[in-house]
Parts: sequence; structure tokens; C-alpha cells
Amino acid sequence: MSINEKYINVFADITSRAAIATIPFIGKKNKKAADKAAVDKMRDDLNKIDMNGKIVIGEGELDKAPMLYIGEKLGNNSGPDFDIAVDPLEGTNFAANNLPGALSVIAIAEKNNLFNAPETYMSKIAINTNQKGIVDIDFSTKKNIENLSDFLNKDTKNITACILDRPRHRKIIDELKNLKVKIKLITDGDVSGALLVSDKKYNIDIFLGIGGGPEGVLAASALDSFGCYFQGRFIFDNNDSISRAKLMGISDFNKKYELEDMVKGDSIFCATGITTGDLVSGVKKKGNKYITETLITHKSTKLNKILIKEDTIKLD
Ligand code: FBP
Repeated sequence: MSINEKYINVFADITSRAAIATIPFIGKKNKKAADKAAVDKMRDDLNKIDMNGKIVIGEGELDKAPMLYIGEKLGNNSGPDFDIAVDPLEGTNFAANNLPGALSVIAIAEKNNLFNAPETYMSKIAINTNQKGIVDIDFSTKKNIENLSDFLNKDTKNITACILDRPRHRKIIDELKNLKVKIKLITDGDVSGALLVSDKKYNIDIFLGIGGGPEGVLAASALDSFGCYFQGRFIFDNNDSISRAKLMGISDFNKKYELEDMVKGDSIFCATGITTGDLVSGVKKKGNKYITETLITHKSTKLNKILIKEDTIKLD
């Protein structure tokens, strides 16, 4: 089964409008307010869609309204059953500080086809081939880079790695430096960071490191459509995340997930720029219209493109 193409535009509208909803909060130093604007708009709009949707990867946990919480049912109770992963505002710091790279992101698959996971960290690795065995989160950084260098027939000094700038990555970053790998350090936004392996124009050969689990599943769904490799391991390192994972039916807390374990079958992915970043431009105002750019992928039709939309949505 595949997801009807008409839903590409429907979900691109969802992230486009959530992105526009954050505009009054850009650069206002209030991450929560910006996030809430995107979440509220996304919920309202998702509830108008002909679908029986369920959030499987969400913002915040069960009882933390106004977040889009895991298990929340959305849609107008007619149409197909969808699993939905959302990050209405990916890069809250970017939005609050008017910095490049804030996005509004969604991924959809048919029911039971998106991995259902609690909000926790994930160790991730991504490269631009779907061939397995070249890189692995359990290999040393040296082995990953040397394998990739052989595969790409490229000296390690000509390889570029993207990684979040975090103290927890000190060892990996030092190893990359020793191997003379070029490093693109990102301060936030690892959905975008992972997607930079999807096209040669970004000049990123490998993305690696620990970031948000929801962001990992979202990136996996787009990378699937691009034919890339993505592997992840959720990090359940406290009682709370372990008990939440158990409730979701996870019993192996150390499992390494291949892309196809996280995203099965067909999927649609949409990421709209809020502030201009590597993937897409941010929201622009032209007269009474907002212009948005959305990266969309649809696996079954092998579609990946940037969609430009105009909207006359009224903001408070
Ligand atoms: P938010 O939009 O929720 O602030 O997340 C931004 C982000 O950089 C993600 O892209 C990334 O996965 C995560 O935070 C990393 O978490 P941390 O900042 O705790 O290292």
C-alpha cells in the first residue's frame, strides 16, 4: 500500500502553516512561546485532515498539554489510518534567537509503520548509500571514517563529518581531528544535520553523534526516501525512560535500529523553513502573504523536492 499523493500537499500545508505561526516569536528569546505557537497551529490543522492519525513520535509526554503528545489521536475520523511523527519547531534556540536553521517537521506513515518511541536521546549515524556494513554506531570513529573513505574512494582528509557541538562528543570530535576529517559542527538542529548527507551539494559525507530520538526517527523517514543509510540506538539511561519504553512494548533497551526498523513502507516527510538554513529558506513576508519553502519526500513516488507555498494566514 502507498500513501495517496494528495497527502503530500496536505502535510506540506501543515508544516508550512506551523512555521508561519512561529513568526511573531522569532528573535523574542522565548523558546516555549515559539514552540507553543507551532504546536497549537499544527494540532488545529491536523484535526481538519481526512485521516485517523496517531502521534507516535511527539513533543512532550502524555499529560503535558499543550504539547502534541505520544498517543494523541488527530484527524476528522474519516480516511486512512496514519502514524505521525512531529517536531513542530525543530531548533527552538534558533527560533528564539533569530538564528538560521529553525524548521517545522512532520513525517507520516501508514498505521503501525513508524517506530513508536518515548522521547529520549539517540545515538545516530547516517551516510549517502543504503549499503549496510560500511558504518555502524558500534564501530570506532576511526573504523567508520576509514571504511567510508574506502567506499567513497576519498582520502579521509577530504571527508566531511557533521556533528552536534556538545561536550558528550568530545572524544568523537578529537578522533575526527586526528584523522584530519573536515568537521561541520552544528549548535542545534540535527534533523537538518542528518539530512545533509542526502545530497552531494551539501558536501557532508557522514552525520554522527547523539541527539534527540524523535529527531532521529524524523530524519530516518526522509533519508529512506533519499536511499540513504541511517542507524540509531535509543538511549534509555534512567528509570523514567525505561518504564516509558516498557509501556510502549520495548524490551531490548540496547537494540540497534536499522532504518527499516524505524520506518516501514511508504512515508511522507515535510520540513518547512522557519529561519533560513542549509536545507530550506525561512518564512518570507510579501504584502499580506507569507512565502514558505518545504522540503518534501514521498517514498513510493521517489519524490524529493522543495515546494514553495504562499499563504494569507492571519497571525495574532
Ligand atoms: P529543540 O528544538 O527541541 O530545542 O531541539 C534542538 C536539538 O538541537 C535537536 O535538533 C537535537 O536532536 C537535540 O536538540 C539535541 O539535544 P541537546 O540540546 O540536549 O543536546
